[in-house]
Amino acid sequence: MSKVIAIANQKGGVGKTTTTRELSACCALRGYQVLTIDCDPQGNLTSSWVDSDVYEATLSHVLIEPESRAGVKVEPLPLGDAIVESPVTGLDLVPADIRLARFEMQPDYMTHRLRNQLQEFGRDYDLVFIDCPPQLGKLLTAALYASDYVLVPCAADAMGLQGLSDLAFTIEQVRKNVNADLQMLGAVINLYKPSRNLSAESRGAVEAAVGLVGHVFDTNLHDYSKVAEAPSQKLPAVLYAKSHRAADQLWSLTDEVLDRLNISRQKIAAVK
Ligand SMILES: Nc1ncnc2c1ncn2[C@@H]1O[C@H](COP(=O)(O)OP(=O)(O)OP(=O)(O)O)[C@@H](O)[C@H]1O
Ligand SMILES: [Mg+2]
Repeated sequence: MSKVIAIANQKGGVGKTTTTRELSACCALRGYQVLTIDCDPQGNLTSSWVDSDVYEATLSHVLIEPESRAGVKVEPLPLGDAIVESPVTGLDLVPADIRLARFEMQPDYMTHRLRNQLQEFGRDYDLVFIDCPPQLGKLLTAALYASDYVLVPCAADAMGLQGLSDLAFTIEQVRKNVNADLQMLGAVINLYKPSRNLSAESRGAVEAAVGLVGHVFDTNLHDYSKVAEAPSQKLPAVLYAKSHRAADQLWSLTDEVLDRLNISRQKIAAVK
């Protein structure tokens, strides 16, 4: 049975997409079968792995009901039709683009579709990571409904910590209304700059909000340009900058995440 993890924070630019791509790549490199779902109309996760000519179907084809044709209702595509390979062995991707923005206008019952589709097409994977959009809307609800765990990246500054209570409220609503089993996996401090006083305090600030977001991972992800450069090469930072400190931190976070998921660590597999 796969474990589904939503990477969420309605705050923009805190590292949701980066954490999703690096964790999912690290888990695949460790030998797990991993599916990563781009649940953000910005499509940043998608473009960080593949060019748009390698896919036709996207998450919007799966989650958005097509217009009826000649009065006949047309079903959206099954999730399996939108899965493509990424450049990393063992890591598959469901791409997204701007068309996914229309999901916010879908009827409420479509919020359940991602969960239903994952029950069928997620079975072949050990882990599924969902990159959530930076809004508290229907897409985030659909992602949280489909997930077993939420992981919250937080940027290491005062601005980056704003709005955690809104996210906690949304998670609580999802728990109460549709998914009582949803668990907080924890918060990751990202974009950490040891030289800044504010960053030194931010761990305390995140931990002060611990009742809101749960466990704070020991590994802080520092602000390293290698991490920002890796997507342009369609590589995970752990391969783009193998011997850089950034790679050590990402592996260390992966180990912490696997431990919290009660999944044993496996040896590193080869890359295509
Ligand atoms: N640890 C890091 N070191 C250096 N750059 C980083 C790091 N984490 C993220 N970035 C960069 O910061 C920017 C924002 O990161 P990212 O896109 O992952 O955030 P996000 O939360 O997904 O944003 P959005 O809310 O728009 O979806 C990107 O340019 C990314 O490359
Ligand atoms: Mg993003």
